[in-house]
Amino acid sequence: MADDLQIASGTKQEQYESLLPQIEGLLQGEKDLIANMANITAALKEQFNWLWVGFYIIKENELVLGPFQGPVACTRIQKNRGVCGKCWADEKTLIVPDVEKFPGHIACSSLSRSEIVVPVIRNNQVVAILDVDSVSLDTFDETDRQYLEKVISMLNWP
Ligand code: SME
Repeated sequence: MADDLQIASGTKQEQYESLLPQIEGLLQGEKDLIANMANITAALKEQFNWLWVGFYIIKENELVLGPFQGPVACTRIQKNRGVCGKCWADEKTLIVPDVEKFPGHIACSSLSRSEIVVPVIRNNQVVAILDVDSVSLDTFDETDRQYLEKVISMLNWP
């Protein structure tokens, strides 16, 4: 088993630069999707202390709650519903600076103020999404998009 996660300080970019090789190490040699998703959410939550970090996996044409860290959450989301369902439909990362201004936003936690959702695309199809919620407005930007998309690319899909 790997050592404890080393938590970095510094700029957001520096924090990601320290975290990504550690995530790569955690995933190395492990093929189980759920185990890898679980460690990705734990590593991101530990480093950044966001409100909620988790996956939804597409099963029978719905997003179904997967491994996550944070408060309990909605278990199923339809395509085009909320930020997650829109990310699935649009097949691209969505950054929402203020969730109250996003039509149809699904408030799983009343504490969530901003959000980023990254699609997991395999064989040209969205197979899951990574959702991250923050208690502060305007938390996520292009740096998060860039690094979270890199994290997602490390995930081997069975
Ligand atoms: N806010 C999301 C729902 C998922 S929770 O935030 C964990 C949405 O609007 O799709």
